[in-house]
Amino acid sequence: MKNPTLLTTMLILALATAATAATPQANWDEHCAKCHGTDGKGQTKMGKKLGIRDLTDAKGQAEFTDAQALDAMKKGITDKKGKTSMKAIEGVPPDELAALVPFVRALKQ
Ligand code: HEC
Repeated sequence: MKNPTLLTTMLILALATAATAATPQANWDEHCAKCHGTDGKGQTKMGKKLGIRDLTDAKGQAEFTDAQALDAMKKGITDKKGKTSMKAIEGVPPDELAALVPFVRALKQ
């Protein structure tokens, strides 16, 4: 090994990156649960105000595609009156947003 310092630095960087990648559960709790509820039923103060659908219900799940789910996170959602009801999610890397789609699907009971 010619440059052990470089290798060590790279290893530390790789470990640090892995440690900061949040799980879908952690992202859900931090970025989504205040509106959608920890369980996805949408029975929060915000959820009731915004008329959020029950994501544990098969019917609610059938009303949007995976692509629409990802779009909702990336671009946000506007209600019928043109008001933003769900803001675009900020501070979550694209691969972690993508990982939230199967997480949302798994909320179905
Ligand atoms: C400010 C409150 C709020 C937050 C925070 C929020 N949402 Fe939403 N979300 C809404 C509202 C309002 C709707 C539209 C009504 C509905 O579909 O139930 C919605 C709809 C959705 C939909 C359905 C998409 C569609 O096209 O109808 C998905 C999937 C979703 N949200 C996932 C998430 C995920 C994942 C997060 C966290 C990364 C999140 N939401 C954070 C309020 C929020």
